[in-house]
Amino acid sequence: MSETWTLLKLLRWTTDYFAEKGVDNPRLDAELLLAYVLKLDRVGLYLNFDRPLIDEELDAIRPLVKRRGQREPLQYLIGKSEFWSLVFEVTPAVLIPRADTEILVEEALARAGGEGKLLDVGTGSGAIAVSLATELPGWQVTGLDISAAALAVAGGNAEKNGVAGRVRFLQGDLAELPRQQYDLIVSNPPYIAQAEWDSLMPEVRCFEPKQALLAGNDGLDCYQKLADQAPSCLKSGGWLLVEIGYQQAAAVQRIFAAAGLGELFVRDDYAGQPRVVGGCYKK
Ligand SMILES: C[S@@+](CC[C@H](N)C(=O)[O-])C[C@H]1O[C@@H](n2cnc3c(N)ncnc32)[C@H](O)[C@@H]1O
Repeated sequence: MSETWTLLKLLRWTTDYFAEKGVDNPRLDAELLLAYVLKLDRVGLYLNFDRPLIDEELDAIRPLVKRRGQREPLQYLIGKSEFWSLVFEVTPAVLIPRADTEILVEEALARAGGEGKLLDVGTGSGAIAVSLATELPGWQVTGLDISAAALAVAGGNAEKNGVAGRVRFLQGDLAELPRQQYDLIVSNPPYIAQAEWDSLMPEVRCFEPKQALLAGNDGLDCYQKLADQAPSCLKSGGWLLVEIGYQQAAAVQRIFAAAGLGELFVRDDYAGQPRVVGGCYKK
């Protein structure tokens, strides 16, 4: 007779397996993965702990558990991620949106009046552009990315979140921003230095798009390119706001100051690490 796997037994086995493989939060990931395959929410999972799983369910779960054990990110396995309390589709073509990036959204909202024009550079999944569009009905929002595959995901996310009519997506290189006069330019650009690559977690290093992460020898290439273009792309009084790596605040402020941006500020994330640098352009 074959062994009976109840939901709780499988959850415990999967949690131990993930822990052995070095997965952060093994119990949470096991719950989210099983809930996804069984089409339950987490409460539903708890209410069904004693339910024996049928072979079809076990067959569907096994390969996903194996892939997570190989450190493939949970979000790619289940195809979605939450950001700004919205649901975003994610594929391996886009960076998985991080909670820390919500700080950049907060800082943009703090500077946005009733209407204006906003550019999100390196939009990826569209997390920043779509979130801001849901909050700023009077604004024209543009998301720019070099990756056509990422832009296809971003377009779907604008649609799913009800703002497709108000966000335009453009393929292009951040070294040549559209020559428009924006009130706000926001960006979470690639900012990992080449030397840091080997120290990244396997989830990031082996599965997220390299193009979304790496930015030259010191990780500062994109900040320099964005700052250089600020005077030709921002209205007087407009802001350039960027997410940064926690050791980059001083260097990014120097780059912004040299490009003529003023009123420089640094905003920490909720872990107390510098996370956003901003500067204002005045003609
Ligand atoms: C760190 S990810 C940010 C994605 C998304 N904005 C977020 O916060 O989750 C950086 C994005 O910049 C894009 N990118 C990389 N190099 C670029 C370039 N030269 N021009 C435009 N976009 C670029 C990548 O394709 C990627 O989507």
